Amino acid sequence: MSAVICLLSSPAALSQQGSDPAAGQQAFNNACRTCHIMREGDNRLGPNLHKVVGRKAGSLSGYNYSSAMKEADFVWDEAKLDRFIASPDEVVPGHKMKPYGGLASKEERTKIVAFLAQSQ
Ligand code: HEC
Repeated sequence: MSAVICLLSSPAALSQQGSDPAAGQQAFNNACRTCHIMREGDNRLGPNLHKVVGRKAGSLSGYNYSSAMKEADFVWDEAKLDRFIASPDEVVPGHKMKPYGGLASKEERTKIVAFLAQSQ
């Protein structure tokens, strides 16, 4: 029954701004989930994004990063993530997050970054 309620209420949820978790999940599913999931330890084509905010770039031991990502010397925060998903080449030149063209929509990026930040 709750699934039905959820379906019925989704148009309203979609029209709200970035803080809405359902909209964030949806945006993440559209743009990232082919290659990433949020579950700790579960790496797919890309590394899992569990607690990515506050994590050092390229630091999961079970994932085979590009040397560019491994050597990127910073910790992911909301601003870095926003720039990375807008234009990965500018943040980590030589990364292997491909094929991924960047996400031009500020609104979509804001929703996704809020969603990632919630997985703490
Ligand atoms: C086509 C597959 C693909 C898509 C789509 C994709 N990624 Fe990635 N992502 C990767 C791969 C592969 C890497 C590893 C990059 C490297 O090692 O250079 C990566 C790395 C990352 C990292 C660095 C993680 C770490 O541990 O340092 C973040 C953050 C990230 N992706 C976020 C996203 C987000 C957010 C989206 C959606 C907007 C997204 N990615 C879409 C494949 C993808």
